[in-house]
Amino acid sequence: MNNFRKHLIFSIIILAATFSMTGCSAAGGQRIVRIGHNQSVNHPTHTALVAFQNYINEKLGDRYSVEVYPSELLGSQTDMVQLTQTGAIDFCIASNAILETFSQDYEIFNLPYLFASSEAYHQVMDDPKITEPIFDSTEKAGFRAVTWLDAGTRNFYTVNKPIESPADLKGLKIRVQQSPTNVEMMRLLGGSAAPMGFGEVYTALQSHIIDGAENNEMALTDNGHGDVCKYYSYDMHQMVPDILIANDAFLNGLSQEELDIFQEGFRLVNQVQREAWVEAVENARDRARNQQGVQFLYPDQEPFVEACRPLHKSILQNNPGLKDIYNAIQTYNAIYPAQRDSD
Ligand code: GCU
Repeated sequence: MNNFRKHLIFSIIILAATFSMTGCSAAGGQRIVRIGHNQSVNHPTHTALVAFQNYINEKLGDRYSVEVYPSELLGSQTDMVQLTQTGAIDFCIASNAILETFSQDYEIFNLPYLFASSEAYHQVMDDPKITEPIFDSTEKAGFRAVTWLDAGTRNFYTVNKPIESPADLKGLKIRVQQSPTNVEMMRLLGGSAAPMGFGEVYTALQSHIIDGAENNEMALTDNGHGDVCKYYSYDMHQMVPDILIANDAFLNGLSQEELDIFQEGFRLVNQVQREAWVEAVENARDRARNQQGVQFLYPDQEPFVEACRPLHKSILQNNPGLKDIYNAIQTYNAIYPAQRDSD
C-alpha cells in the first residue's frame, strides 16, 4: 500500500473515531457515510454506488451524507473489509472470494464450475433463501452483506502462452484472489497460485513476476491487464459475485424509516450495476480485441471441470451445512443449463 493510501486510511480511522463520539461529521451536521471499493470511476460498481449516493442524499440528505471512495483509496479489499468490521467506514464492496476468510459459508460461491450458466448464477444470487443465511453469517464479525453485484465470469489470461487445457497451466504462476479455495483450484489444475491483492496484479504481470491471472474481461481494459496479456481463454471457471457489506452497528442504529430507504438504495445498487455490467463487458471485449490485440480462445471446458471436481467434494465434507445450498444450486443448474458464449 502506498503512503498516500496509508495516510488516508489513518485519517479516516481518526475521523471515524472522533465522529462516533460526536455522532455527526459533515458541515451541515449530517452523519457521513463512507463506502470504499477497488474499481475505477468508469466501472459499473462505481456507477451503481454513485446512484446509491444520490438516492440517499436525496431522501435523507438532512441526516446523512454519502461519500464513495474508488480505486483502493482506502486500501485493498481486505483492508476495507476490516475497516467496515470496526466501523471506521460504513460500507465496502468485497469480492465473495476474500469473504471466505471471514465466514467459511462464502466458500460455496467460490467453487470452480459451480454454476452451469450465467442465468443459473443470477437466479441463485437473486434467491434470498440461498443468499440470506450466507449474507448474515458474518454478523458476529461485525458486518453483514446487503446486496450482490455481478462480476461476470472469471477466465485465465496469460502474457504469452495460450491456455487450451489444464496441461498448459503447468509451470505457470497465475495470480488468484486471496482465498484458500482459489489456491486449491490452481493446484488441482496444475498451475502455481500467486495470491495477491487486485491492485498489485498489473505490476506483477508487467514485471513477469507472474505469467498470468484470471478475471472477467473488464480487468483487461479497465485495469490494463490486456496491455500485457494477449491470450484470454474462456474456461469460465468461476462466477464470483461482488458483495456490498455494511457495518452491522451502523445498520442497527438506523430508524425503521431510514432502514427502509437504505434497503431501497441497496436494491438500486444491484439493479444499476447489473444493467451497466452487460454493456461494460461488451465494450471491454471489443476494446481488448481491437485496441489491445487480445486473442479470445474457447477451450474444451470438460478437462478443467474434471480436474476441479474433488474441490466440490472436499468443501461439502468440511462444511456439511452447505449441502442444502449446493443442492438448491444444482436445481437451478438443471433449469438453466450451459450455453457457451463465443465470438
Ligand atoms: C474483479 C472483482 C473485484 C475483485 C477483483 C480481483 O474485478 O469485481 O471485486 O477484487 O476481480 O480479482 O481481485
